[in-house]
Amino acid sequence: MMKTIIVFLTIIVGLVVSQSSSSASGSGSVVEFTSDLSISSEWDHYWERCVGSGHAWLGTRRDWQDALKIAHDKLGFERVRFHGIFDNDMNVYQQGANGEAIYSWYNVDVVYDYLVSIGMSPFVELSFMPNDMASGDETIFHYMGNITPPKNFTTWNNLVVAFLEHVIDRYGITEVSKWHFEIWNEPNCGFLYVPGYANQTTEVLQTAYFEILNETFSAVKSVNADLSVGGPATCQSQWIPETLQYCKDNGIELDFVSTHEYPTDIVPLQRNIMYQVLSKSREIVGDDMQLFYSEYNDGLFNRHDTTYASAFAIFNIIDVYGLSDIFSWWTFSDVFEEQGQQSVPFNEGFGLQTIYNIAKPSFKAFELLHETGNLRYNTTGSHPTAGILVTNSWNKNEVLVLVYNHNIPDAPMDTETLAITLENIPSDVKKATIRRIDEDNCNPIALWTEMGSPSYPSTSEIEQLLKSTEFNEVSIPITKLDKHTIQVQLDIPPQGVAAIKLHF
Ligand SMILES: *[C@@H]1O[C@H](CO)[C@@H](O)[C@H](O)[C@H]1NC(C)=O
Ligand SMILES: *[C@@H]1O[C@H](CO)[C@@H](O)[C@H](O)[C@H]1NC(C)=O
Ligand SMILES: *[C@@H]1O[C@H](CO)[C@@H](O)[C@H](O)[C@H]1NC(C)=O
Ligand SMILES: *[C@@H]1O[C@H](CO)[C@@H](O)[C@H](O)[C@H]1NC(C)=O
Repeated sequence: MMKTIIVFLTIIVGLVVSQSSSSASGSGSVVEFTSDLSISSEWDHYWERCVGSGHAWLGTRRDWQDALKIAHDKLGFERVRFHGIFDNDMNVYQQGANGEAIYSWYNVDVVYDYLVSIGMSPFVELSFMPNDMASGDETIFHYMGNITPPKNFTTWNNLVVAFLEHVIDRYGITEVSKWHFEIWNEPNCGFLYVPGYANQTTEVLQTAYFEILNETFSAVKSVNADLSVGGPATCQSQWIPETLQYCKDNGIELDFVSTHEYPTDIVPLQRNIMYQVLSKSREIVGDDMQLFYSEYNDGLFNRHDTTYASAFAIFNIIDVYGLSDIFSWWTFSDVFEEQGQQSVPFNEGFGLQTIYNIAKPSFKAFELLHETGNLRYNTTGSHPTAGILVTNSWNKNEVLVLVYNHNIPDAPMDTETLAITLENIPSDVKKATIRRIDEDNCNPIALWTEMGSPSYPSTSEIEQLLKSTEFNEVSIPITKLDKHTIQVQLDIPPQGVAAIKLHF
């Protein structure tokens, strides 16, 4: 108990110090940004269209459902994408004694009913193979999704058609028209295995995948030509030109091209690697095709629980704006079991929330992004690591200034002092506040570490951890430069994020 109190005091002191320090700057000079509130353009919340999760069966669990509702309510996510709607654990298909198909949709309904009940839709990944129609035994992950093609495409196509007819019957075509149907997952990165080939070469995998793509595309369109279908759902932004060529040669008009990118797959890592990769993909698909990044994250290394992920998210979501129609963070929760469900709360899982729904710094970053409105104000100024985004807010008469300081690991960065000038303000500022995400704010892993990194935190420890994720909103001084111009100054530490809210 004593230890707990000391820890708590330390955190409070840490907050006060970080909020009030406005002197020490690494470079010594002030970084200037200017925003003109009379010039605005659209600010589309493209990152909210979808978020990732593990596999379909998790959707039958209450902890998963609770975590999803929190992510939907606080972060605004509209759809959720996960693997394995046809996996054996979902029990959608069995072959009867006379070879007939026996379908069972109850488990699917449990998951989709819940999504629809909270105002979300599935981003349907048509995967993997029910054992009774699989051409081989190879599986992936702890949950053993079968990754082989069907032994008979008629059986597979019939399953896809029966599945679609069932969901249209249950949820209505208006609802199902909002969904997207993505064919398989990462056929180029271990999620497809073609029996009979000792060497699973790109050629073997592409031939098999394109047959799945062609058959599944036709099956979906045979049910309703307006349903949105796409692929190739590859890892590392690969196979995009090959997929477009195959579709052109075979008269397939995809509704979207989808792929994935984890920035650490590219060596050496660069700060704007997501921008470079997404720009190239956009150039390949052209402006008339929807491009979905149906998975991404701050990387495949272990920084997901830290402020690195929050600064990464803010910087990149601003940086790649306009390149991708869907940008789906993998994942919303550490209720996840690709390598088996982890029971330590901070296990560097992909989730925005830990088990017990403790908001990681990345979750808090998405919370701030969700608060941004639909207009972005013209901003000038640049810096190698620090940047800003100025938007309106859903609350009338408010302007939100998001500030970040981000670089890749082990690259140089300092605490920076920013002077942000806002021109053409509508009226005098009535109130100005700041909230922060950094080492000392909204950083529950720090408190958990001070607690001795308990594998199974007690109820009271969990309560303290949850409390440490709340924003500490304090006022910030504003300097009036003239009748229409104000300035605000702040320090922003490495991998720090801040949100300044101005009420006019
Ligand atoms: C494939 O499945 C269909 C439908 O179940 C069946 O009519 C057909 O005979 C099967 N083809 C082969 C080669 O087994
Ligand atoms: C598999 O095929 C690739 C590309 O064709 C080749 O480079 C590689 O050496 C092959 N591996 C084996 C084990 O045969
Ligand atoms: C594509 O699928 C259609 C419908 O099943 C089939 O008729 C056609 O032969 C397939 N084409 C290729 C190249 O596999
Ligand atoms: C911001 O305004 C400047 C000057 O008017 C202009 O050159 C620039 O293109 C604008 N930027 C945006 C993003 O609108």
